Amino acid sequence: MEIIDGKKTSAAIKAEVTAEVAKMKSEGKRTPGLAAILVGNDPASGVYVGRKEKDCKEVGFHSLVLRLPETITEEELLAEIKKLNTNPDIDGIIVQLPLPKHISEQKVIETIDYKKDVDGFHPINVGRMVIGLPSYVSATPFGIVELLARYKIETAGKNCVVLGRSNIVGRPVANLLSQKGNSGDCTVTICHSRTKNLNEICKAADIIVAAMGIPEFLKADMVSEGAVVIDVGITRVENAESKAKLVGDVKYDEAAPKCSYITPVPGGVGPMTRAALLQNTLKAAKKEIYG
Ligand code: GUN
Repeated sequence: MEIIDGKKTSAAIKAEVTAEVAKMKSEGKRTPGLAAILVGNDPASGVYVGRKEKDCKEVGFHSLVLRLPETITEEELLAEIKKLNTNPDIDGIIVQLPLPKHISEQKVIETIDYKKDVDGFHPINVGRMVIGLPSYVSATPFGIVELLARYKIETAGKNCVVLGRSNIVGRPVANLLSQKGNSGDCTVTICHSRTKNLNEICKAADIIVAAMGIPEFLKADMVSEGAVVIDVGITRVENAESKAKLVGDVKYDEAAPKCSYITPVPGGVGPMTRAALLQNTLKAAKKEIYG
């Protein structure tokens, strides 16, 4: 059993991005810029945006964070996005989700210029990804595929089971894994809350991506000997001493000995999502996708 080290892999990616940014600057090119919008006071969102800001600084990006009040109207928020769409110093824009209930997330996503949509949530990027055209791929699916590629894990012809059908993880990762070519060519099954015979389906999988957000859902008896398990879950739970601990969607201690590869939580997929956002922002600055 080998533990897939997302921390080490993301550090390597960050070093690559840092070197590339330094090279761009030495050639007199503009510094890549990422703008993040945070609406309201959700503590978890605040932590995520703070980390993204720190990552940007570490790799040498220009980072702009707009912290806007919970009471902002949808119209005012859309106006802020439109300003960033035309700001020449900004290559990538992200609006941290979730948003307050009175604001339509879909409207917000579709207001971001798709050429600056480094979260890969805009329907143009999602659609292009589905038909195999160059696009921004959202951070978590991109990070997962990158981990499989960097660990040289064979995917061609493998049975891959994706647990969860969210727009952010389940659907896009299932799509990427079924595409022709590198880290693709899998036979993919997407499972969800209405799936029957889940245990048998998981048992027949060579690769399982657990992304349903239920702590320790995937038990050892659902995993076959030698499977690759990618754990996307991250839930904060308190133990008997009221100490907070992060757990994934996999019952790690029991499942890990059966796996050929497994991602831990924390330190697996999580750090890769942060690295993927940096990779997408660099692509945006270099106009790699849309010219
Ligand atoms: N909320 C949870 N995950 C994400 C993400 O990847 N991007 C944004 N913008 N918000 C999120």
